[in-house]
Amino acid sequence: MKDNIVTIDGPSASGKGTLARHIAKYLGFEILDSGLLYRVYAYLYDCGIEHAQIIKTINQDITFKSDDSGIVVLKEKNNITYELRKESTAKAASKISALLETRENLLLLQRGFYSPKGLVADGRDMGTVVFPNAKLKIFLNASPEIRAKRRQLELQNRGQEVNMLALIEDIKQRDLKDKTRKLSPLIPANDSIVIDSSEMTPEEVLSFTKKLTKKEFNK
Ligand code: C5P
Repeated sequence: MKDNIVTIDGPSASGKGTLARHIAKYLGFEILDSGLLYRVYAYLYDCGIEHAQIIKTINQDITFKSDDSGIVVLKEKNNITYELRKESTAKAASKISALLETRENLLLLQRGFYSPKGLVADGRDMGTVVFPNAKLKIFLNASPEIRAKRRQLELQNRGQEVNMLALIEDIKQRDLKDKTRKLSPLIPANDSIVIDSSEMTPEEVLSFTKKLTKKEFNK
């Protein structure tokens, strides 16, 4: 019997987050943005917190809230979402995510997001490592140039200025690191459905995914 979970893996800015939010709302499932957990982990590490203390700190001091703009993260009372969404934090997360200690520490925390209601989990290794028994596994991809364009718009909407060439280079470097690392590399699970969204609108990706959920969850 498979778990009531949709996993959405893929490289950065492939549209996973948007798809995950829409599908979770559509199915009435909980949502896990695992990339955000890796960003929080890297942020706390950069604040000087040791690996052994990070999960405890997340449980005690970090709050995740949802609003119309997506997930808001508070450290005690401070909103740290803007810091977490910076490319510099993404790079720090990519670096620290290659360590066994980080991945082991975050594994149980991520599995704890499972709810009997169902879960949509977005990340790099949701279908391969964290939820291998998920009912529906999607691997969402797009070319680095298209992803850089999407990330540029996203960052500009948040008031951050970006250099397009540097952004494409950052995305390629991060992809390379995520795909070639020894632990939980970014690869599609054998039983995943690969969607290349380079030539698709977000609405087309959503409607294709809804057809898949209809088959798997009858919804
Ligand atoms: O998805 P997002 O860009 O927020 O992820 C930031 C970084 O965290 C990724 O580049 C990747 O190195 C790491 N990550 C990971 N495994 C996940 C999710 C994110 O290694 N499941």
